[in-house]
Amino acid sequence: MTGSARAHRLANIAPFEVMEVLDAARRLEATGVDVIHLEVGEPDFLTPAPVLRAAQAAIDAHPMFYTSALGMPELREAISSWYASTFAVDIPAERIAVTAGSSAALLLALAAVINPGDAALISDPGYPCNRNFVRLFDAEPILVPSGPEDRYQLTSRLARAAWTPATRVAIAASPSNPTGTTMTQDEWVALADVCRTNGGTLIADEIYQGLVYDHPPQTVLSVIDDVWVVNSFSKYFQMTGWRVGWMVIPDGAAREIEKLAQNIYISPTTPSQYGALAALSPEGIAILEERREELGARRDVLLEALPQIGFAVRARPEGAFYIYCDVSEHTDDSFAFARWLLEETGVAVTPGRDFGVAAPEQHIRIAYTQPIDRLREAVARIGDAVGRARL
Ligand SMILES: Cc1ncc(COP(=O)(O)O)c(C=O)c1O
Repeated sequence: MTGSARAHRLANIAPFEVMEVLDAARRLEATGVDVIHLEVGEPDFLTPAPVLRAAQAAIDAHPMFYTSALGMPELREAISSWYASTFAVDIPAERIAVTAGSSAALLLALAAVINPGDAALISDPGYPCNRNFVRLFDAEPILVPSGPEDRYQLTSRLARAAWTPATRVAIAASPSNPTGTTMTQDEWVALADVCRTNGGTLIADEIYQGLVYDHPPQTVLSVIDDVWVVNSFSKYFQMTGWRVGWMVIPDGAAREIEKLAQNIYISPTTPSQYGALAALSPEGIAILEERREELGARRDVLLEALPQIGFAVRARPEGAFYIYCDVSEHTDDSFAFARWLLEETGVAVTPGRDFGVAAPEQHIRIAYTQPIDRLREAVARIGDAVGRARL
């Protein structure tokens, strides 16, 4: 029995339940049911054509060898120029690491700043992988319950109250998954102050940065410099499966990140980096902006329709492609409710349990990753079912 040993840390890693909903939805689909998928956290749009063309041309023209561990110099330069042209911030290419999605960026940042036994503050509800990443480093995630009054964010008020002597890190995402709410620049500054005062580190997750609908996109880097920023080509750039993202490294830490990346995965995938270069081109951005407008229109349709079927939206989702709904009018067990919705209506949603322990039984997440007519159809089906259930 040479394969039977298991590390203790495995016991602390929770499964990603949305994948189980997805499996159930696919099984139902296989029986011929028309399932409307509002559970998965990836855009329904195909990767933009310029990205596909650039990656294909690169495969024909270049050997697909490893690149430098921090990514191709021309892509790091292109990301640096994109920060300058989009946000008027000067981020030298030397501070940019191209990574295998923002997931790798988060792992690298945590590997660089957290020690076993340290604690990290994370908003609850929040993106589930973060707390498992913290546990991987034998550190403790502190889930900080955040409600509509804090727009579900890790605000400075909440971070100050939750800080413990062991706390070393605060992680916040803007826009957030699962709520779509954003941090204002003032809130970022205040949260960074709390971290600085306590000798801690701030990690800002800007993976949904380009997907905002009420105001232009912003970056924390416009107001704070001593911050770790993770970002990705997955969501706004619609390249989830390409596994390419990046990190902005605080001054002086690039060599440490380079050493970690060299050892952990050697380099990010080469064809994807060529694709990412094209995503940043004016042609790529023009396509993505059209799609952003479409996503904004979808959000607006749902924001109007959901309250009419008793799905309360307690904080305006300014971005991402998620709406976090309070469904306590219908259930006190959102997990069972999601299963019931799937069976009764063929609409798949994610129960709150994936996103934390603060009132998950009261919430579901809806991803508007379907065209408007399908969203209207989903709301109509749910409206009928909950109406029937009330009779
Ligand atoms: C808030 C947040 N951060 C990070 C990620 C990781 O994405 P990726 O590794 O594809 O960049 C996700 C994916 O859903 C997310 O929602």
